[in-house]
Amino acid sequence: MSLESSRIAFRRAQRSLGGGVASGLRASMRPHPLFVDRAHGAHVWDLDGDRYIDYVMAWGPLVLGHGDSRVMGAVSAMMSRMQVIGTSHVLEYTAAEAVLDAVPHGERLLWSNTGTEAIQVALRLARAATGRRRVVKFSRSYHGWHDTVHASLAEADCGEVAVPASRGQSPSVLDDLIVSEFNDIPRIERILACARERDVAAVLLDPIMSNAGVESPSPAFLATLRSLCDRHGVVLIFDEVIGGFRIARGGAAERFGVPPDLSVFGKAVAGGFTQSAVVGRADLIDQVAHGVVHAGTFNGNPIAMAAVEATMRVLSDPAVYDALESISTYFRRVVGGVLTAAPEAGGLRNIGSLFQYVPPSGLTSLHGTDGPWSTILSGMLAAGVLLMPSGKVLLSTAHSEADVDDTAAALDRVLRR
Ligand SMILES: Cc1ncc(COP(=O)(O)O)c(C=O)c1O
Repeated sequence: MSLESSRIAFRRAQRSLGGGVASGLRASMRPHPLFVDRAHGAHVWDLDGDRYIDYVMAWGPLVLGHGDSRVMGAVSAMMSRMQVIGTSHVLEYTAAEAVLDAVPHGERLLWSNTGTEAIQVALRLARAATGRRRVVKFSRSYHGWHDTVHASLAEADCGEVAVPASRGQSPSVLDDLIVSEFNDIPRIERILACARERDVAAVLLDPIMSNAGVESPSPAFLATLRSLCDRHGVVLIFDEVIGGFRIARGGAAERFGVPPDLSVFGKAVAGGFTQSAVVGRADLIDQVAHGVVHAGTFNGNPIAMAAVEATMRVLSDPAVYDALESISTYFRRVVGGVLTAAPEAGGLRNIGSLFQYVPPSGLTSLHGTDGPWSTILSGMLAAGVLLMPSGKVLLSTAHSEADVDDTAAALDRVLRR
């Protein structure tokens, strides 16, 4: 894999695009972003025509892999009928019905475009319903780049106070955040015991900490959150932008048996097209008919709705999740086995098809250019395997055992070197 054309393309992109990329984090790919010419199933081909096994999966949406024919067929059929319509169309509600059918606590739904946007809608609904202002989030979790929730990774060091994660962020809106620790029951009990005095409207939780190392919630933690929120009149919001339709058809509520008041879905909901959704209690969501503003030119556009409906139809077959779990178990055994044989190289943990590389003990960060992850990342790219800089590994139903075997063989070669 020469990467030569990608290197040239990146230099040209830097002359027209801010940072040379369309989404900031992509610039962290080393030695530079891979420029893709086409994609199919579990593979992408770069500008030089070289093929890579793709474990980025567009950072989450592609649970069915690239270009699933059922999703693409529905979108192509819709493209010849309409693209975006400033009034209503039937797919807006048939696609909503399909999502609500999948999600155990789904009574009502709002369409939005991105995860970042839908999180803002969910927080507004919670504030409107409670008449309170503050939101409890959990240290290190990412809920989009918006000022109101984008807090620094260092926030854990600062007690419950959120610290801006970006230059140019308004520090004043971060006063609306209280930072707690995932799976820490005494701490959240302490915070929510004064929910009224501290003006807490919502608890916002990524139930699998997908952007903060991938971690299972303890059953007692989720159950405690549910009962504390009920007791203190706080809205419980699950951010399922990565986990939704990936860890189970019904998301975290199905997988862990604890329903939130609202769930935010994005990424996988539209099978690779742009759409997100807030799903949950009807009384909360129906506030949009009573003074809570929620708007968006592209919300519920026919192309995205066709993609959502087709994706939901495919995902309604339990065999899809059996296949996803089975390839994930195989990956854990075969690729995880290569890492187990070389403990100084680190390890893997996973929840279903979402994996996280974990550095060897003593190393807490993946960052830096000389750690084991950096060596794995660049070695695997040169061997035709595309991984994420953050150490997350995303599988899809399009990945085959042959792909996993090739990945394990490449990893073994990289580690031996
Ligand atoms: C857990 C989580 N929430 C929210 C978001 C923001 O979604 P989007 O990038 O679609 O705005 C992301 C994006 O990666 C995410 O992983």
